Amino acid sequence: MCGIFGIVTKDEQPLGPILIEAAKRLTYRGYDSVGAATISGSKIDLRKDVGKVDEVAAKYNFAEMTGSRGITQLRWATFGEPSQVNAQPHLDSDGDLVGAHNGNVVNNVELRQQFIAEGLTVRSQNDGESCVHAVERYLNKGYDFIDAIRLAYGDLQGDYAFVIGRINDDKLYAFKKGSGLVAGIGEGFTCVSSDLPSILPLTRRIVRLNDGEIVILWADRLEVRSVKDGSILTREPETVTESMDAVQKGGYPHFMLKEIHEQSQVGRELLHMLESSPEVETVLEKARTARHLYFIGCGTSYHACLAGAVYFAQIAGRAVIPVIAPQFMPQYAPAVNHEDVGVFVSQSGETKDVLNALEAAEKRGMTCFGLANVIGSTLTKAAVCTLPLCCGYEISVPATKTFTNQVLTFLYLAYRLAGRDPAALAAVPELMDAALEMTAPQVEALAPSINEWNDLYCLGYGATYPMALEGALKLKEITYAHCEGMLSTEFKHGPLSAVTQGYPILFAVPSTDVPLIVSGINEVTCRGARAIAIGEDDPRLRANASEVIVIPHASPEISALLTVLPLQLLSYHMSVLRGYDPDFPRNLSKTLTVD
Ligand code: M6R
Repeated sequence: MCGIFGIVTKDEQPLGPILIEAAKRLTYRGYDSVGAATISGSKIDLRKDVGKVDEVAAKYNFAEMTGSRGITQLRWATFGEPSQVNAQPHLDSDGDLVGAHNGNVVNNVELRQQFIAEGLTVRSQNDGESCVHAVERYLNKGYDFIDAIRLAYGDLQGDYAFVIGRINDDKLYAFKKGSGLVAGIGEGFTCVSSDLPSILPLTRRIVRLNDGEIVILWADRLEVRSVKDGSILTREPETVTESMDAVQKGGYPHFMLKEIHEQSQVGRELLHMLESSPEVETVLEKARTARHLYFIGCGTSYHACLAGAVYFAQIAGRAVIPVIAPQFMPQYAPAVNHEDVGVFVSQSGETKDVLNALEAAEKRGMTCFGLANVIGSTLTKAAVCTLPLCCGYEISVPATKTFTNQVLTFLYLAYRLAGRDPAALAAVPELMDAALEMTAPQVEALAPSINEWNDLYCLGYGATYPMALEGALKLKEITYAHCEGMLSTEFKHGPLSAVTQGYPILFAVPSTDVPLIVSGINEVTCRGARAIAIGEDDPRLRANASEVIVIPHASPEISALLTVLPLQLLSYHMSVLRGYDPDFPRNLSKTLTVD
């Protein structure tokens, strides 16, 4: 997830050290490239490259940069690989404007073509550059700066925030559309950033911007205007008192809880992205004609592969072979050829088990696509093309938002393959928020009694089977208890013998197969188990389960996805009750680069 910061000072001064510090305070958001620009009179000094803040700042001597306005940006690649030219900030054609954004401009590809046709100088593939040219094109047509920004805002689709400055001016301008943006007012300066941590060491007087607002920053004041009609909006600054740690976690006690609650937002961004992604067509074309289609991943990413396989079969009538990556070599690699297609799924894009499978598949001539969160990772370089997960940085070791976006990507592809309108999926983000809101109090209340057990089962069927596996993985990963995910119908084939009085068994209920789950529930409750059903409100569940955690009503495929959310919350609360840090469970690492 990129981060931007801009500052306007009264006098020309060394801005480099301020920009370096601001950039460092945004690193928790994740990044692959760093850039800084200062504006002094009619000169713009721009320095940027791929790498860590300290390395890039030292290599290009950011510390010596001076001016009365400065911008820094940390880039998390989505459009265009991590490279110096794609790093931000970007200049306009003549080098009179400089700007940077965070978020995604989803019509970037079309806009770049338009800018090139209009004779503008486009240097990179990055959508931040499109933001600069979008303003430039209207300045070239004679519009004043504010109107040019307002028109650019209309052209740039997606969720983002953007800051821009120009030579021979005394201001910076920023606007917000979907991504965070806050402005700060200090003694002799103003500043703007995608997040508070880069502002709070400088000032605690801040103005939070809303979508559709432009902020104009002078050294001694700021003005907020409406994008709609350009009118000035009255905004009183507030004083922030929270600690830096709380601010980075967005007010949540742990990154995991923050990331659980970010799922709707990143889901929305993903759907926007998929709608305009040329890679979607490439993947679908191959998926249609492939002899065999494999979805390959490990851990949580494998569970997303399983969900994808269920969706592809149920929605598009297309059989898919989901594979845990290391098993690909002995079980499938000897039999695949150039007619087969694989989608390799990995949050990090660096999981060695997945890369090994990819290498084996490529050797056999298979077409290999990626589904990854970290663009520029080894997977994304090796794959024919990669669909980005658009989740930004996932800090907590337990994957949450990357899982739901992996599943949502497969759901989207299944809809497209089936010729169904994916517009129906636009409801998912809101349903996710509703599911979290509806279930959170009940889950928190249930957690202490379930937490008395060190042995749990999580059962599902059909599209909820992968959710049960994922819930069980979350539970064992951060509570250190034994928790097994299983097909509900398999429980009677062995594990049933473990049931004693009060033994908790969680059921992720598919709305299409309630009677089957009710049978499973009765098989365990009549032996003393406590059956906790997670599903839509249904009298059959209320009559049979010990407790029902009710999720909102939705189409069966979306409903299945929603069942994982209370399981994420439950694992979080149980981990905290046990006194563990859910963000950093013992023995585990976010990126597993070993065999
Ligand atoms: O980066 P990847 O998606 O390839 O990682 C795969 C697994 O290591 C990962 O999903 C792991 O299972 C998670 N920590 C589970 O929350």
